[in-house]
Amino acid sequence: MPPIEIRPGIFWIGVNDHTTDLFEGLWPITQEGVSYNSYLIVDDKKAIIDLAKSLKVDEYLAQVGERIALHELDYIVLNHMEPDHTGILRVLRKLAPQAVILCSPQAKEMVTAFYGITENVRVVQDGEEVKLGGKKLVFFLTPMVHWPETMVTYEEESKVLFSCDAFGGYGALQGAIFDDECSQFDFYLRESLRYFANIVAKYSPMVLRAIDKLSSLQISVIAPSHGLIWRKRPEHIVERYRTWSQYAESGGEKGVTVLYGSMYGNTEVVVDALAQGIAASGIPVDMYDARRIHASYILASLWEKKGVVIGAPTYEAGLFPPVAHVLDLALRKNMKHKKMLYLGSFGWSGGAKRELERLARELDWEIVSTFEFRGGGKREDIETVRKLGEEFGRLVRGSF
Ligand code: FEO
Repeated sequence: MPPIEIRPGIFWIGVNDHTTDLFEGLWPITQEGVSYNSYLIVDDKKAIIDLAKSLKVDEYLAQVGERIALHELDYIVLNHMEPDHTGILRVLRKLAPQAVILCSPQAKEMVTAFYGITENVRVVQDGEEVKLGGKKLVFFLTPMVHWPETMVTYEEESKVLFSCDAFGGYGALQGAIFDDECSQFDFYLRESLRYFANIVAKYSPMVLRAIDKLSSLQISVIAPSHGLIWRKRPEHIVERYRTWSQYAESGGEKGVTVLYGSMYGNTEVVVDALAQGIAASGIPVDMYDARRIHASYILASLWEKKGVVIGAPTYEAGLFPPVAHVLDLALRKNMKHKKMLYLGSFGWSGGAKRELERLARELDWEIVSTFEFRGGGKREDIETVRKLGEEFGRLVRGSF
């Protein structure tokens, strides 16, 4: 897409990625895509803020070329070193060697480690300012949002916050780049939550710290490096990020994620009955078959909802592996303080429940109830489980 002016003298020069299947090599974006938003500021001095993955390099450089010649570029601001925002750096350095890289103290060594660049790199400190002319950049260190070297950049005249990963989301831009032009708002919000759960959730305390640190700024536009640019209601995405970050302590909001897997359908029949019971209690239920749905999507629901049902048979004296995989990721992402119910079938000795109890201790999840059964669920089991579901739903609802 051609450059788009987001405020006078400030241009979006981002890249839409429709060909990467796995973001970070982990998280599916085949259907959704992602954008790497980059920004060009044209004033007495010219600066680019954040770059893009090494992809569509010709298109990226053509966008810059529509507004300035590369030899005019004065600064390259690197808010964050992950290669989805710096992949073009090596090429850009060759074409614009005069441009000074501005980065945080911790990013300096990473610039060398990732790209072999040692010259013309200037470290900026927390609160440091760089004048471009009428416009002025101010840098704020925001460690662990998402890596330790991460910072954000604020342009004082236009009150634009270039927040990099913070306030971003999956989802390539579909013509509209602004929140007020977008007709698929729910899609972007859903993909922002999935992105948050996959990428940022582990660092929720640091996200809250960063939001507090930036709270005294007057912000007219939030320009993240992924997803929509928020110019109509920048506070909306900030509040979403604040709420999502608070789930790290509260365990989430009213609702239940049913995460299950089944080898021959015996566990699945009972899970269905349980879900009926939860739904009858009047709280939202999200069901995910771990055999078929990628963990990326399940983590978003797990993060958001206080209640969790694990439905998994015993497999080789342990938990059914597709379900165990999701729980392993939940542990790595610090998804704590849930209320959990377990049910599952076993053939001879069981073992899934034992493994789950160990995991629950590590996750700090409260096991409210368990129901293990041998072989297939009996008719009376189905009714028992349905009641269990209703009780569990009421308990989760009652904890708010
Ligand atoms: Fe979008 Fe942490 O990189």
